[in-house]
Amino acid sequence: MTHYRAVKGTRDIFPEEVVIWQYLEGVVRRVASLYGFHEIRTPVFEYTDLFQRSIGATTDIVGKEMFTFQPDPRSRSITLRPEMTAGVMRAFLQKGMASSAPVHKLFYISDLFRKERPQAGRQRQFCQFGAELIGASSPPAVAEVISYMMHVFRDLGLKGLKLRINTLGDLEDRHRYREALKAYFSPYRDELDEPSRERLEKNPLRILDSKHPRVREIVAGAPLLTEYVRPEARAEFERVLGYLDERSIDFVEDPLLVRGLDYYCHTAFEVQCDELGAQDALGGGGRYDGLARELGSRQDLPAVGFAVGMERLLMAVEKQGLLSSLTALGPEVYVVLQDAALVDHALGLCGRLRDAGITAEMDLAGRSMKAQMREANKTGARHALFVGSEEVQKGVYGLKNLSSSSQESLDLEAILRQLGNH
Ligand code: HAM
Repeated sequence: MTHYRAVKGTRDIFPEEVVIWQYLEGVVRRVASLYGFHEIRTPVFEYTDLFQRSIGATTDIVGKEMFTFQPDPRSRSITLRPEMTAGVMRAFLQKGMASSAPVHKLFYISDLFRKERPQAGRQRQFCQFGAELIGASSPPAVAEVISYMMHVFRDLGLKGLKLRINTLGDLEDRHRYREALKAYFSPYRDELDEPSRERLEKNPLRILDSKHPRVREIVAGAPLLTEYVRPEARAEFERVLGYLDERSIDFVEDPLLVRGLDYYCHTAFEVQCDELGAQDALGGGGRYDGLARELGSRQDLPAVGFAVGMERLLMAVEKQGLLSSLTALGPEVYVVLQDAALVDHALGLCGRLRDAGITAEMDLAGRSMKAQMREANKTGARHALFVGSEEVQKGVYGLKNLSSSSQESLDLEAILRQLGNH
């Protein structure tokens, strides 16, 4: 034991769990390649104003959840990335990627940092997989992005997920709606909870997300965003829904869905999973055509994307019992020494096996044969290879199949031939 502990809201991932992570990441990557999404990796920190500008100064993320620091008194403020979209767009614009092709399809599996109160499903360092399609946000582009996300869930075997979807209209629609909400909620000011009161001036749309019982009652009578979305935007949204229908992706239209980041316009969506408890949002995303201009581009750049929390994804697959067949792959061969003096010979054997592409392990702690056999079984090794002084002299070793318990005496060449074919 040590008195040092992992920082609250962070966690270690030990080898047994890494197997699960690698499996999830493998599915994410494989499905990405089916759809033609290519991986992008951006720095873990960016200048703070990038996030203020893109996520929005009045959002919870920028207002209270960012890890921000100044490397020295004269340098620009820096923030650990709380999400990926801003950094990906920054990288896209910086490299001038638009000039190389009209549409780019990017995906990522990346660690992020938010100073939220840690609880189940909510950490201060967490991981997301996500995708950003930049250069198009037409209904087929939106459907493509949602299909990629849902395909990953389907391949993992997840059931009972709820895709909620809404249209936020364009910036002007949202502006009119925001004013209408302010006018509606203002007479209720004293009945609102503290966070909602704060949002009333700065970001009244977020009141719609409130889980507070009285606020929910008030929200029930609020004007709906749909009434403020113009017919052209509505028609485009209907086309998105049509594509989802064609691909047999179930969804629920939810006029109260807003999302906690400011860059969205038109289609926004979220996926909910009942097994996750209070933090039931598995992922979310939407269109963000105005973000490029916010970051200095001369024109709007159509774009759409999503992100899914990997820890929550892991929790969901675990709770739905979809991981039972996943176990760490033990070595093909565990070399068992009769006595510690043979360690050099055994190391040589391991080297020959590994050079031939056969996974091999041996005891490095000088333990008894019995302890070595226990270890061989524990690691899930498929064979034990016995090395005693007689074996070394003759160059013939006992190779035991640990599942059938059958044993043969073979020289190294025969062992390499037999296990190499495996
Ligand atoms: P977001 O809704 O803020 O969207 O995050 C997406 C997902 O990340 C959430 O649904 C959740 O699963 C996971 N997540 C968020 N915060 C935490 C946390 N503190 N602990 C564990 N998991 C968490 C975005 O980040 C947007 N960038 C998505 C996007 C991409 N929109 C367009 N492109």
